[in-house]
Amino acid sequence: PKLAEEDLRSPICCIMGHVDTGKTKLLDCIRGTNVQEGEAGGITQQIGATYFPAENIRDRTKELKADAKLKVPGLLVIDTPGHESFTNLRSRGSGLCDIAILVVDIMHGLEPQTIESLNLLKMRNTEFIVALNKVDRLYGWKTCRNAPIVKAMKQQSKDVQNEFNMRLIQIITQFKEQGLNTELYYKNKEMGETFSIVPTSAISGEGIPDMLLLLVQWTQKTMVEKLTFSNEIQCTVLEVKVIEGHGTTIDVVLVNGVLHEGDQIVVCGLQGPIVTTIRALLTPHPMKELRVKGTYLHHKEIKAAQGIKITAQGLEHAIAGTGLYVVGPDDDLEDVKEVTMEDMKSVMNRIDKSGEGVYVQASTLGSLEALLEF
Ligand code: GTP
Ligand code: MG
Ligand code: NA
Repeated sequence: PKLAEEDLRSPICCIMGHVDTGKTKLLDCIRGTNVQEGEAGGITQQIGATYFPAENIRDRTKELKADAKLKVPGLLVIDTPGHESFTNLRSRGSGLCDIAILVVDIMHGLEPQTIESLNLLKMRNTEFIVALNKVDRLYGWKTCRNAPIVKAMKQQSKDVQNEFNMRLIQIITQFKEQGLNTELYYKNKEMGETFSIVPTSAISGEGIPDMLLLLVQWTQKTMVEKLTFSNEIQCTVLEVKVIEGHGTTIDVVLVNGVLHEGDQIVVCGLQGPIVTTIRALLTPHPMKELRVKGTYLHHKEIKAAQGIKITAQGLEHAIAGTGLYVVGPDDDLEDVKEVTMEDMKSVMNRIDKSGEGVYVQASTLGSLEALLEF
């Protein structure tokens, strides 16, 4: 039977790809922010999360299809680092998402971490679209700010169109070598079998409306079951960070369920399970990046999907990459603690503590893991 009203949560979309393909810049372009320029060395070293409310997506895509019906409340986008040392964070990000954007630099084609990302997505059977980014670097490209890609392409000279087609064909061939069929999204007749390519520019915004609309339409069309809101809490700790005025906080992605101020929670700690109470639920403003310091909105409760900063006592030794559990009225605390610590095993298995070595100190657990790997 058809439900009278679908209660869908926001899809979670992870943006992945080789270093410097323009992942953060693409998000900056949608947000109207400048996160990328504030990064050390222009390199992303943490997982980020940004919430895009449906009304912003509607506004950004109106030129394509003013009547497009958006059934999801918004889109939660997870930014990941492309640098080779951060396999841990790419894996953590891709493990959370419903769909992914694989970013390829049109001037470079498939690169080592493109392929690594691709393999992470294949392993989990995650749907994805390809953003073929930096089209503005094609020689002679005529800027059509924020235009849908077909419209922008029509404005280009024959030479630009030829160079585009030549590079596109090469990249489609490279994907084929990885065992994947890909095609320009507006020519793709077999979505699901053939992966869609959206040409984009993060600098001048061409193709961004197409990318957003494709993500939302694809998820709400094919993932209704997965996206139907459920009260069961599914929540992952992304990072553990000290924030001035808040002490040690955890950045989490709430995939499903509702979190409340005052909830009793259990997270993994280095010395065992940490049982504590949510003191504050903070989010950045919509369209702002969670990992960037800024002003936070306080919430009494938050419904999934959302990127949230949680403040609570005793989080100093919390471990990123593990689950967060809420102790409900009918739950036995000891059981919840036991379930929580199961995640610990998988994290500790990745760290080699044998032999001699060096002391490593890092500002976040994610970068510590990357340094250890390096
Ligand atoms: P990591 O997170 O470090 O893996 O990199 P990234 O994929 O997030 O790339 P980033 O956003 O840091 O961009 C890398 C460089 O490419 C920056 O100098 C951007 O300004 C530039 N860039 C990104 N997208 C575009 C684009 O569409 N066109 C042009 N011309 N330059 C771009
Ligand atoms: Mg980046
Ligand atoms: Na970069």
